[in-house]
Amino acid sequence: MSLLPILEFPDPRLRTRAAPVHAFDASLQQLVADMFQTMYDANGVGLAATQVNVHQRVLVADMSDERNRPLALVNPQILEKDGSQVYQEGCLSFPGLYADVTRALRVRVRAQDVHGSEITVEADGPLAVCIQHEMDHLEGKVFVDYLSSLKRALLLKRLDKQRKQAATA
Ligand code: NI
Repeated sequence: MSLLPILEFPDPRLRTRAAPVHAFDASLQQLVADMFQTMYDANGVGLAATQVNVHQRVLVADMSDERNRPLALVNPQILEKDGSQVYQEGCLSFPGLYADVTRALRVRVRAQDVHGSEITVEADGPLAVCIQHEMDHLEGKVFVDYLSSLKRALLLKRLDKQRKQAATA
């Protein structure tokens, strides 16, 4: 396994729309293993392949405190969603940045596992947020896209400032 570099906003490659996975082979399994290692190493709860510059429809997540509930979804599709919730989201492509986003409270998702078997996942609360957030990445969409332009500008300015401070530290 190896750690993969994570693309950071505003890298234009984060805007790439991912392609469906057709080959459930060793390289896919390697990608998923590397994505889990990269996500856990960065203390993240979710990671989309887009963020590691692999433009295939793959995401990993683990919302458990114990970091022992790994979920890998290949070619995920939302079958149903309902309700709404506001949750403070972060993203490994926006280190140190958090913002409230409104999303569906519950989702039912059809996907494939790393071996190509069909699976259905029903999620609510934070896991539902995470799945929707990561699925957005596969469409080239990021969580700040949901904010008002004023709010987004303020947050991105703060992100820029943090980066400059980190560079001179
Ligand atoms: Ni993200």
